[in-house]
Amino acid sequence: TPSLPDPALLLAWYDRHRRVLPWRGDDASRPDPYRVWLSEVMLQQTTVAAVGPRYTRFLARFPDVQALAAAGWEEVAEEWAGLGYYARARNLHAGAKALAAQGFPRTVEGLRAIPGIGPYTASAVAAIAFGQPVVPADGNVERVVARLMREETPLPAAKPRLTALAQGFMAHAAARARPSDFAQALFDLGATICTPRNPACALCPFRDGCSARAAGVQAELPRKTPK
Ligand code: ADE
Repeated sequence: TPSLPDPALLLAWYDRHRRVLPWRGDDASRPDPYRVWLSEVMLQQTTVAAVGPRYTRFLARFPDVQALAAAGWEEVAEEWAGLGYYARARNLHAGAKALAAQGFPRTVEGLRAIPGIGPYTASAVAAIAFGQPVVPADGNVERVVARLMREETPLPAAKPRLTALAQGFMAHAAARARPSDFAQALFDLGATICTPRNPACALCPFRDGCSARAAGVQAELPRKTPK
């Protein structure tokens, strides 16, 4: 059975190719949890390119959790206009009220207890902002792991398995040493190299450890159950 490749390979690649994004800043320091949370919520149904300017504007208007909590819903909705999926804005606003009252929990379990923070967002904030040893698995990360492990079970049935497999990276000391960078490196790999179509395997730091590539099926994975 396949095993996950060494996460140190991905981290070394990330150190050279890390994307500078508005919620990352231009150094490798861990950003503040409010910024991570806001960016992750925006990125759930909106592309990185479209989120950029909207994230910056939202942050200028609501610079911290207290400012967002104190705002009226009309203001928040106005700033969210055009981003769609208004439930996300409702969740942000409700979450901000809880966070302003109690502070930012640092663990996945603590974050999950905040209204509107689901399992993905909790893992992303815990890993990226607080360096907790968890791997947030969004669609990009699921695709990377499905290929590395040659998971032939189609989505959505494979989802829980892929989430669990991704977590397996944290068994390695290299990933545990840098959970924030590791999570962001997986996003970058999925967005720029391990893309849905025509993955750029020749440039991939995991090219020699990828089971799908060894079998020549990388572009077919993950499979999807027809709707
Ligand atoms: N997709 C989801 N979260 C992301 C992040 N923090 N950076 C880049 N792409 C992402």
